[in-house]
Amino acid sequence: DLHKVDLIPRPELFDFHGVSMTCYFTDSWERVQNFQARPDDILIATYPKAGTTWVSYILDLLYFDKTSPEHRKSIPIYDRVPFLEMFIPSIISGIDQVEGLPTSPRLIKTHFPVQFVPKSFWEQKCRIIYVARNAKDNVVSFFHFDHMTKIEPDPGDWNTYFKRFMEGKMVFGSWYDHVNGWWKKKQTYSNLHYMFFEDMVEDTEHEINKLCSFLGLSHSVEEKRHISGGVQFENMKKNKMANYSTHPVMDFKISSFMRKGKVGDWKNHFTVAQNEEFDEDYKKKMKDPTLQFRTEI
Ligand code: A3P
Repeated sequence: DLHKVDLIPRPELFDFHGVSMTCYFTDSWERVQNFQARPDDILIATYPKAGTTWVSYILDLLYFDKTSPEHRKSIPIYDRVPFLEMFIPSIISGIDQVEGLPTSPRLIKTHFPVQFVPKSFWEQKCRIIYVARNAKDNVVSFFHFDHMTKIEPDPGDWNTYFKRFMEGKMVFGSWYDHVNGWWKKKQTYSNLHYMFFEDMVEDTEHEINKLCSFLGLSHSVEEKRHISGGVQFENMKKNKMANYSTHPVMDFKISSFMRKGKVGDWKNHFTVAQNEEFDEDYKKKMKDPTLQFRTEI
């Protein structure tokens, strides 16, 4: 009910098992933790604004474009790939959506840091796709998103937000812990495919090829090329079922969900001083030489 959603207050951040969270992603904790995954479930995990929707849409096309093309025209991506831990008053909860999914495999989205993932995903050895985006573009995208999304804490001004990001006081916690936690998991859990937003921008088709090998899919070169074309930024931006324009908690007068889709937009937001401060702090937090991000391509 759209009217009721308008009355939902912006939430407060609080510490939840050592991670900054809001009620909208913790109120269904018990049910989410007890969730029973199926072996063929596919989990798409990301820090918010790292390219979740993009990869979700690609997976949806890879699996269901041939069998149910009509769904793509009528069911928005956030309903086809439910957000596991989402629990917002007067909107169907993520867990109910997942349990009601008629399709197989089920594609499931989460923003949880790795230690919050329900244990049955690991037990069932589900395939998991993690998408990471460089910190600078990630924080800029998150800032604009928090302005237009009424279920996020008030972002305040850019400078305040920038500091909060470095402190890890964001919904779903610290970006630094998130990307590193998942990266470490990859060393011991073989069914995890770790990919980067920047690589997707640089060569979408190549990333789709890698996804297909990981998932054991044998689409033809033409099919993959067709999908790659369909998911380019401008196409997704004008696609009502992919661009979130039908989502009740977002205010498109403030910003759009498909905002810029670029690598390097941070340069339009960071001051020279902020950039120096950020780089200095980044070095202290990102000690693992095997995890490297590109802030330009
Ligand atoms: P910007 O705000 O930088 O434009 P998420 O889906 O995880 O919330 O991520 C949203 C970000 O991914 C937004 O970044 C959005 O524009 C970008 N994005 C979504 N689809 C894209 C596409 N097809 N090509 C490039 N960027 C895309």
